[in-house]
Amino acid sequence: PGVGPFDLVVFGGTGDLAMRKLMPALLYSEGDGRLPAESNVIGVGRTDLTREAYVERVAAACQANAEADSPGDEVWDRFAGRIEYACIDEMAAEPYAALRRLLEPRGDRIRVFYLATHSDVFGDICHRLNAAGLVTETSRVVLEKPLGNDLRSACAVNDAVREVFDEGRIYRIDHYLGKETVQNLLVLRFANTLFEPLWRREFIDHVQITVAETVGVEGRGGFYDKAGALRDMMQNHLLQLLCMVAMEPPANLDPDAVRDEKVKVLRALKPLTEAEAAKKTVRGQYTRGIANGAAVPGYLDELDSKDSRTETFVAIKAELENWRWAGVPFYLRTGKRLPERWSEIVVQFRPVPHHIFPSEAGAPIANRLVIRLQPDEGIKFHMMNKVPGPGGLKFREAPLNLSFAETFRTRSPGAYERLLLDTVRGNPTLFMRADEVEAAWIWTDSVLAAWETIDEKPKNYSAGTWGPSAAIALIERDARTWHEDEG
Ligand code: BG6
Repeated sequence: PGVGPFDLVVFGGTGDLAMRKLMPALLYSEGDGRLPAESNVIGVGRTDLTREAYVERVAAACQANAEADSPGDEVWDRFAGRIEYACIDEMAAEPYAALRRLLEPRGDRIRVFYLATHSDVFGDICHRLNAAGLVTETSRVVLEKPLGNDLRSACAVNDAVREVFDEGRIYRIDHYLGKETVQNLLVLRFANTLFEPLWRREFIDHVQITVAETVGVEGRGGFYDKAGALRDMMQNHLLQLLCMVAMEPPANLDPDAVRDEKVKVLRALKPLTEAEAAKKTVRGQYTRGIANGAAVPGYLDELDSKDSRTETFVAIKAELENWRWAGVPFYLRTGKRLPERWSEIVVQFRPVPHHIFPSEAGAPIANRLVIRLQPDEGIKFHMMNKVPGPGGLKFREAPLNLSFAETFRTRSPGAYERLLLDTVRGNPTLFMRADEVEAAWIWTDSVLAAWETIDEKPKNYSAGTWGPSAAIALIERDARTWHEDEG
């Protein structure tokens, strides 16, 4: 509501993220009538392209990434009319003349600078934008993840960007926060009476968070090999999900009220020592195997390298040192080339304290709440029931099953659609504050430091399997099991 016309400038405008996610998201927003008239989208890249050639690339990317209900030609024509391109070497001394030529005639409108480049150059880009006189009062900057490579580099990026933009105008994106089901976690927890009184160590045995992908590194090997699954996925996406599950109720939905609670969770994460990391973490790397029904090469073959020790899978038993969650493990795992694309949060409740039923009824299974993020967004609450019939009492576990697609029958917008519009609206609730990113790095650095001392190669797993067997052992040692996909 109340969004004025804007100019969205995408650095890294010819890159993977812009083409696969940002442009298609904007096209869908166009289709929904959410882009105000006269707003523009300006791609910035080093490749020398005409506007027409750039628009063609965007068209191809939008087509390749279209979903079943993709917007039609008329919507595309409207969107295409907004696209501009500026050929700029973002590190050159020349003060962004091509961008100035496009922006200056438009006067003082909302400007969003989206930096979808490597975070090393975020500070420089901001300084150059400033030197070129392009940072106006209504300007804001969006920083794509990963922000830095460790705590030190993340702080350096934050400091450099803050020399130009104050914190309130910096939007550090974690697209998992834009996913509908992730936002629904707040509603589930804080708009229902049922769960919150039970949402604590007295009633919850443990929590599992799984983000499984079938893709490999998809031509991003150069970037990925320096990052690995811990930095690429866990430091941000999985920890953000953990925050949404574990945070205390904020007093209201003010951006800082929510983020204050999240940062407290991150600060309560228990750093891992070397001895703990040996028991509580598992690193894996995929070898060749079968994914999505086809034979696929191993990570090293994809990378054309013999000796990379980068992990493409990680499982960690994380613990929170606070009043609510003491003694409740959060088992986190994520990996590439797993059997399915499948993300979920499982809240496992404790068993009932006392059995009153005859043993022939079977053993009651403790309640479990499964929040499915993708695909097939939904919520299942597993509970015990009596099998109907006049015979003896028999238990059967069956879920209350809420499918978002069936219940709401409306297109679920992609994460970037919501988040891009939030940057224009000036709402940073679903973005990470500097202190959140830094707190997440403190815990991540403890794991990285432990791994460095342990100095072991990641364990192999065949593409198309659920990671190394050590990941199964990690949870089974605690007499628990990973929750399996129920389809
Ligand atoms: C990105 C990671 O942040 O998230 C990628 O860099 C990963 O490696 C992607 O594939 C997963 O996002 P989604 O929305 O497809 O689950």
